Amino acid sequence: MLKKILVLPGDGIGPEITAQAVKVLRALRSHSGPEFEIEEALIGGAAVDAAGDPLPQETLAKARQADAVLLGAVGGPKWDALATKLRPERGLLRLRAGLDLFANLRPAKLYGELIDSSSLKPEVIEGLDLVIVRELTGDVYYGEPRGARTLAGGERQAFNTMVYRESEIDRIARVAFKLALQRRGRVCSIDKANVLEASQLWRQVVAEVACEFPGVELTHMYVDNAAMQLARRPTQFDVLLTPNLFGDILSDLAAMLTGSIGMLPSASVNQSGQGLYEPIHGSAPDIAGQNSANPLGTILSVAMMLHYSLGAPLMGERVERAVAGVLRQGVRTQDIAAPGESSAGTGEMGNAVANALGR
Ligand code: IPM
Ligand code: MG
Repeated sequence: MLKKILVLPGDGIGPEITAQAVKVLRALRSHSGPEFEIEEALIGGAAVDAAGDPLPQETLAKARQADAVLLGAVGGPKWDALATKLRPERGLLRLRAGLDLFANLRPAKLYGELIDSSSLKPEVIEGLDLVIVRELTGDVYYGEPRGARTLAGGERQAFNTMVYRESEIDRIARVAFKLALQRRGRVCSIDKANVLEASQLWRQVVAEVACEFPGVELTHMYVDNAAMQLARRPTQFDVLLTPNLFGDILSDLAAMLTGSIGMLPSASVNQSGQGLYEPIHGSAPDIAGQNSANPLGTILSVAMMLHYSLGAPLMGERVERAVAGVLRQGVRTQDIAAPGESSAGTGEMGNAVANALGR
């Protein structure tokens, strides 16, 4: 069956890294991968410049029609001074909400070859393999009321609302428990229930859902302690289940444990399996256009796409093996190269992975 993939290059290094991922997709097709059709559209600052909107109507319509969306990155200093509604990040947030992509999966897995790239000691991160399951369409990101105002007397005030409904917690908890069943059977749910009502409800609903999954061991942890434990002994975690804001923060921390944030993919899926796939790093405007960004996070996002949205898990594994293969051969972009070691450019890394697929 023909699958439709929408590519949204976005800003900064986005176009360079998505180009490598598309290269890998095309190489797969020549090895009898799934048949697919690739289209491109605008998002983020690039869309603001071209169409005055970080998520043009046309992009959302195309995304709705696609089986999967591959995104590079959005944002950059050029658009930082714009009003909240016009900021590139807004385009991404509206796309997540528009497709109801409530489940964000962010695996952080250590490649043995890169153990020395981490800022943590090898014995602390050896064997690291965790997944953050982050709720993505609720919480303070979308909560109303929100805004800014000037109080009587002239002082400025700004506010956001942290809010969760039971059904939103229930559905993301199920994703985490099901995933744990395919892994090591442990879920650690993150909250701040010692202070926040929204977290107290979170904790209750997660515990209720857990009763339906007797094969999974559930623990709860406050988010501040979780940050400490991730740096102290990250291998204690299997699946981390988090609300939107806490997951945003902890996933950057978890990413860095593996050595380079440039290596990590993510998937954001809805109830029908449609998904948005993107590396977890940002648009890195400082290195944009220099052919030096690491495309592996985006290429590994294609592997997740094959697995979760294109019904081709074996092809996904093939991409993962190709990435592991090029790392074993010693191909390194600058972010993961040892000091003084020569490094490959973005395009060369993409070629190396595409070639390794044939082997
Ligand atoms: C992420 C990013 C986004 C978020 C930004 C770009 C809106 O940091 O995907 O983690 O906060 O969710
Ligand atoms: Mg983030």
